[in-house]
Amino acid sequence: MFTRQDAIDLDANDPLAKYRERFIFADSEVCYLDGNSLGRLPKSTVESINTFLIEGWGTKIVDGWAEWIDKAETTGDLIGRAALGAAAGQTLAMDTTSVNFYRLVRAAISARPGRRTIITDEANFPTDRYIMQGIADELDLNLVVIPNDLQPHAAGEEFSDELVTTEILKPYLTEDVALVTLSVVAYRSGALHDVKEITDLVRESGALMVWDASHAVGAVDLQFDRNGVDLAVGCTYKYGNSGPGSPAWLYVSKRIQSEIQMPIQGWFAQRNQFLMGSKFEQTEGMRGFQIASPSIVGLLCIDEGFGMIEEASISAINKKASKGTEMMIELFDQWLAPLGFELVTPRDSTRRGGHISIYHPAAAQIARGLRDDMKVIPDYRAPNSIRLAISPLATSYVEVFEGFERIRDYTISEKLKDLDISGVKVS
Ligand SMILES: Cc1ncc(COP(=O)(O)O)c(C=O)c1O
Repeated sequence: MFTRQDAIDLDANDPLAKYRERFIFADSEVCYLDGNSLGRLPKSTVESINTFLIEGWGTKIVDGWAEWIDKAETTGDLIGRAALGAAAGQTLAMDTTSVNFYRLVRAAISARPGRRTIITDEANFPTDRYIMQGIADELDLNLVVIPNDLQPHAAGEEFSDELVTTEILKPYLTEDVALVTLSVVAYRSGALHDVKEITDLVRESGALMVWDASHAVGAVDLQFDRNGVDLAVGCTYKYGNSGPGSPAWLYVSKRIQSEIQMPIQGWFAQRNQFLMGSKFEQTEGMRGFQIASPSIVGLLCIDEGFGMIEEASISAINKKASKGTEMMIELFDQWLAPLGFELVTPRDSTRRGGHISIYHPAAAQIARGLRDDMKVIPDYRAPNSIRLAISPLATSYVEVFEGFERIRDYTISEKLKDLDISGVKVS
């Protein structure tokens, strides 16, 4: 039996506990379990942005560009160092994940001429799937979608944990495949792919692998350099705590930078940018992958969020994410399984990120009620899943414990008793 005292003890022994007070808590009674959608606001971000507005933009005006011009690279290097296990000169912080994803996928396809098949999985994040569909139509390619949606495909089938293993992927890897793309952590089930094994397998087949690490970055120790990753994208606003719409990042391994050509040739990628030459000539290194003016306010928010990750260390953060999701699964078994919830996240802690996903036929109503009546912020995904996250720097174990207590209490409360959930299939 996992008790409140166990959660209190975990907090007392948590080396990251001190970071919690560095975030803004507008309502201390709220259990915020949605850090996998949007992280909390660091206090230092408020200070940094205010200072920039008054002393940076406000004072220096256009002269400020002298110090801001390379900021996509320096902030990119910080993200690489703090969270990706990437040496300098391989990460850029810019634009959105979707736009960066489009660029890397297009560039990877061009780097494998003659190959006409591209692969993703059904469980991938919608923007990735839609962009892949668009590119397949645009270039008349064969798009293969591995069937692993967690809803059962046939009667009697179990929920899928959405993991694509090398055994599942291997039969798809013909000589016609240019590119495979998956999410490091599946956005719904929370399953964590074996990045190294899959990248190695795809490389052996002659194709390129693009990873979307949006749901992993800042919770999982990614070690891109060590794992031999070639291409990856991700966001900064979830476990990176960098704010809504903060710039995303892209990673291009030094190993393949000379093979990669961006589909948009913008002026920031031009050699001797301010000579404003008549013909495009791509400059060396990561700057050659940048398109245009970076959002300085956004990048400064990233500096605060990822600066804190660097200080705390991604390995300590990853340990807390594992411990926190393990505690959630214990509480799930203790309180929620008997109430008709199902767990779809892997129980193996090496195969999870910072969130778990649970199913219930009345998930939509429960998620609504938790927000309206119980001061718990979960994340609801149609048709019937609730995602619950621990954001290791901002969330305490007691906050998670109380959140689960309230989910239990709300589900057995009178309010749900009259709900007609017949006809909604749980398993
Ligand atoms: C896995 C994944 N990819 C891409 C995106 C889209 O990000 P953006 O809106 O920055 O393009 C998200 C957003 O949550 C995501 O979770």
